[in-house]
Amino acid sequence: MLEVKTVSAGYGALTVLRDVSLHVEDGEAVALVGANGAGKTTLVRTICGLQRAHSGSIAKNGADISAMPAHELVRHGLAVVLENRRLFGELTVRENLRLAQTVGRRVRAGRMRFSWDEVTTLFPVVQERMDSAVELLSGGQQQMVAIARALLLQPDLLIMDEPSTGLAPKVVKDILLVIKALRDRGMGLLLIEQNVGIAAEITDRAYVMAVGSIVHEIGRGEWQSFLDNELLVKAYLG
Ligand SMILES: Nc1ncnc2c1ncn2[C@@H]1O[C@H](COP(=O)(O)OP(=O)(O)OP(=O)(O)O)[C@@H](O)[C@H]1O
Ligand SMILES: [Mg+2]
Repeated sequence: MLEVKTVSAGYGALTVLRDVSLHVEDGEAVALVGANGAGKTTLVRTICGLQRAHSGSIAKNGADISAMPAHELVRHGLAVVLENRRLFGELTVRENLRLAQTVGRRVRAGRMRFSWDEVTTLFPVVQERMDSAVELLSGGQQQMVAIARALLLQPDLLIMDEPSTGLAPKVVKDILLVIKALRDRGMGLLLIEQNVGIAAEITDRAYVMAVGSIVHEIGRGEWQSFLDNELLVKAYLG
């Protein structure tokens, strides 16, 4: 389980997140939705140690993971697909994936969930471009490489920051199918998403963030009534 408790964080003297609390149970698919600038990416960056929380705590299965280096997060079963994907552009797809495979094997020994073949089969496009430099791939293909790489780290919780943003509808559809397959396999998901339609399709419940705080929770079975409430949707998501 991931548990974020009363986290405040920001950039230098600027406080962006205020008292943010949320949790994701093992194998649960949860969304974090909110308008541009709400603080979603700041929260992701704080969870994965790219930024330090000013206060509050972040724990994975009871272990304090705040300000932990990336390979330590892997040990705790956490993988993150960041907004800018952070791939090694000059390396080939295969090289990017092999690096992750090596780290995953070493750090998550005995807790392997995905084989190389399983992961590459999820993304036929990735397989076709295995020996291309990543920087030569389209945005959608790069997103698929980023997800494949995250899976080879053998996580039990995957955090994705707007995996569909800026991609063509067909690519978005392909990526959503993969995310659903992961969910159905019991992968824990924290999906950051501005598109509430997509979030509702994939997740069981959600947190709504506005101006750095969680302002609303959408519980299990409440997605439809939230989507039907146009005033609420407009108020929180613009
Ligand atoms: N590197 C930075 N330095 C200073 N302020 C920043 C930095 N990155 C983001 N911010 C500010 O923090 C606030 C939250 O930004 P953040 O990127 O977390 O929002 P977001 O919810 O992810 O938005 P989007 O949906 O557009 O990705 C914004 O006001 C933004 O201007
Ligand atoms: Mg963002």
